[in-house]
Amino acid sequence: MSQKTLKQLAAEKALTYIKKGELLGVGTGSTVDCLIALLPEVRHLIDVVVSSSERSTEQLIQLGFEVAPLTDIEKLTLYIDGADEINAQLQMIKGGGAALTREKIVAAHADQFICIADQSKYVETLGKFPLPVEVIPMAVGHVQRELNKLGEARVRSNVITDNGNPIIDVFGLNITEPLALETHINQIVGVVTNGIFAHRPADLLVLATDQGIETIKA
Ligand code: A5P
Repeated sequence: MSQKTLKQLAAEKALTYIKKGELLGVGTGSTVDCLIALLPEVRHLIDVVVSSSERSTEQLIQLGFEVAPLTDIEKLTLYIDGADEINAQLQMIKGGGAALTREKIVAAHADQFICIADQSKYVETLGKFPLPVEVIPMAVGHVQRELNKLGEARVRSNVITDNGNPIIDVFGLNITEPLALETHINQIVGVVTNGIFAHRPADLLVLATDQGIETIKA
């Protein structure tokens, strides 16, 4: 099956987890795009929806959803988002679409985090996908020098996040200790956050494979 078909299947399965009265967080990316397109089917079940990016917000508004500002929300019952890589502990690399900081903030509000992904995202060790790091503009030089001690740090060209910041991608990592590396990088002065989601992993992975949908718990 094509990757696009697998993403669609993961999104269809995720839709079945949306229950009445849901306070729903919606992530960002091409897998989530499939989910957003299906959300009108379960509109009656959703009490509140928030989003992790301007891009997803725009799509939701076009479908007639009123997107709440996260500042109005104390907690979400469910957050559904994709990942660039995910391991058996449901720790992830995210931020390929540059939305990592808002995604991490939305995830922090959620009782349950469901990751939807196609089989190519499931890895034994995180790090083959370049790790995105969002950085305060004036700190780019400093942060890049620090990140170059860990791997090859490249400023992503022509990308500014919804928060107005550049992204540095770190290539060539082999992340054997995701919790420690997430903490370490976040302590570099000027880093807004990095794309390791280990302190707040997903609770459930809906993985679309050629053999069908697998659901994996942490
Ligand atoms: C957005 O910044 C990312 O964290 C996405 O969740 C991730 O890149 C998954 O994207 P796809 O669903 O497009 O693969």
